[in-house]
Amino acid sequence: MGETTTIVTGSKGGVGTTTVALNVGVQLAMQTRKRVVLLDLARPFGQISLMLDLNPRFTILDALERIERLDEPLLATLAARHKTGVEILAGPRHAPMKAEQRQSVTIQALTRLVELAGRAYDFAVVDMGVVNAAEWAPVLAAAGTTLLVAEPSVLALGMIERHMAAAAPAGLDCQRIHIVINRWRQNDDEALAAFQHKHGRPILMRLPNDYRQVTEAVTLGMPLAGSANNFLLGRYRDLAAWLAGSAGGGHGRRAGTSVPVAQ
Ligand SMILES: Nc1ncnc2c1ncn2[C@@H]1O[C@H](COP(=O)(O)OP(=O)(O)OP(=O)(O)O)[C@@H](O)[C@H]1O
Ligand SMILES: [Mg+2]
Repeated sequence: MGETTTIVTGSKGGVGTTTVALNVGVQLAMQTRKRVVLLDLARPFGQISLMLDLNPRFTILDALERIERLDEPLLATLAARHKTGVEILAGPRHAPMKAEQRQSVTIQALTRLVELAGRAYDFAVVDMGVVNAAEWAPVLAAAGTTLLVAEPSVLALGMIERHMAAAAPAGLDCQRIHIVINRWRQNDDEALAAFQHKHGRPILMRLPNDYRQVTEAVTLGMPLAGSANNFLLGRYRDLAAWLAGSAGGGHGRRAGTSVPVAQ
């Protein structure tokens, strides 16, 4: 299991999984100055390169087609470097995807890719989109940490429980699955407290709703940026710092450790 690998998955579609994966990857690279790779495994493939305005030469299809002989140097040549330092293994565009290429996208191959990325880089962050935890358990198990993204709606919070209910019997350690509430507003706290009370699940992080800032970044094809007192960006920095671990290399973020970030 890659202790320095983080899978970002959504409790449901549209909750901000890709935005979280991208900005966590960028902040990890900027704060640690270590080698960070961001894998775009979410379907539909290919959104991260669009959100960063990158036109990558290679995609995960190039990696998956060579999965049997894929090694760390080859993986590094397939990744595209963004100016923030994060390296992107992009998702493919759909049009050129041939039937045999689609067949190379198997759970077994994706598991191997995530494992290799975890070994090849100091940190790996994976946009997994929304998956059935039971079906995708081998890929999810390849990461030391999962960030399960939800928004504060009854539906998205309810889907957290569905995810957990599928994860546990599939052998996944639910203590390693951390809940991130995206698009949080102060008046959501009552509903979140009720959710925490009912299910006994802590919330790792609340990422504030900031439509203007997030839209501006997407419009410009950039990650979030701004001043140190920017609330949303500050939360992303806290999240990246927590993932990096106080001792570096992911130490100190095992199950049960306290979370040194604002909730
Ligand atoms: N903190 C935030 N505040 C306001 N809007 C946000 C925030 N985070 C993300 N969004 C917006 O929410 C929408 C969905 O974001 P995103 O594409 O990252 O979600 P997703 O869960 O990956 O969606 P999909 O299921 O389609 O892959 C986008 O319009 C994005 O700009
Ligand atoms: Mg997405």
